[in-house]
Amino acid sequence: MAMVCVSDFEAYAKKYLPKIAWDFFAAGADDCNTRDENILAYKRIRFRPRMLRDVSVVDIRTKLLGAEISFPVGIAPTGFHQLAWPDGEKSTARAAKAMNTCYIASTYSTCTLEEISAAAPSGLRWFQLYIHRNRAVSQQLVQRAEALGFQGLVLTADLPYTGKRRDDVRNGFRLPPHMKLKNLEGAFEVCKMSPLDPSVTWNDIYWLQSLTHLPIIIKGILTKEDAELAVRHGVQGIIVSNHGGRQLDGGPATIDALVEVVDAVQGRVEVYLDGGIRKGSDVLKALALGAKCVFIGRPALWGLAYKGEEGLQEVLRILRDEFRLSMALAG
Ligand code: FNR
Repeated sequence: MAMVCVSDFEAYAKKYLPKIAWDFFAAGADDCNTRDENILAYKRIRFRPRMLRDVSVVDIRTKLLGAEISFPVGIAPTGFHQLAWPDGEKSTARAAKAMNTCYIASTYSTCTLEEISAAAPSGLRWFQLYIHRNRAVSQQLVQRAEALGFQGLVLTADLPYTGKRRDDVRNGFRLPPHMKLKNLEGAFEVCKMSPLDPSVTWNDIYWLQSLTHLPIIIKGILTKEDAELAVRHGVQGIIVSNHGGRQLDGGPATIDALVEVVDAVQGRVEVYLDGGIRKGSDVLKALALGAKCVFIGRPALWGLAYKGEEGLQEVLRILRDEFRLSMALAG
């Protein structure tokens, strides 16, 4: 089967992944309105293409907080990569390195941070943090990531509690016994309830800043008010995100929220976006509306499900080439 576009990988993953894994990856919260809106919103945006502008050379490189990547598509943090491919996050790290882009490793990785950094030692990696009720666990994770050469700390702000994903409830979703949340081993037993701390506030950014020299990027911002607060609390980057529609159902598509965030920030920090990126022209729309770079969540998992590291590289290559072509055709 020729893999021509990202949807081909989605179809493959749907066909070949165990249903419980497919459902977990695909899930949105409640009616999945926001998840679906992330994609529909791109279809409503039109280009105003310009002609005869010499597009014989098209430079698609960009920089994330000073680090150059080959094209403006990185890998969003998603949990449990071993559900997609046996080597899990090690394959993800290798693919990102091979394509010279950024990989944000999740707190909920099924490989250790040490394994991830050893898999692609010189790759650009950020670490995504969920703040644990036991703050010592989070402190230790952040400091481990910094010592291992992760170059950014991504604080996910939109998950004080996990959204209600109906298929996961129906399936009784849990990790198979041979997979572990390798970076939190031992940390769960101390908590009878969800281990994540729902009492986190903006003040905790100061706490994180006291633990690390890493730049902090806040993920899950959707309004100008929160964008302003993020800047005032000294973060270096914002990821406009609704967690792929897995948290609050009924919020805006990220591409629709992007403009107010970009307007509020006025270039004081870098603004990125994730959610619903499926084509190179989606990337161009996000950049045209002010994002510095976009990140992919589910498409990366579909690439892994297809052929591990190679499959993910193929997904990234397709998005890169489609983006370059759209940029040229738009003048
Ligand atoms: C996620 N996402 C996520 N975000 C995060 O900060 N930490 C995490 O561990 C996870 N885990 C996770 C698992 C799965 C299966 C999905 C689909 C998503 C959200 C993710 O980073 C990103 O915001 C969305 O996936 C972007 O939307 P698309 O690209 O999937 O449409």
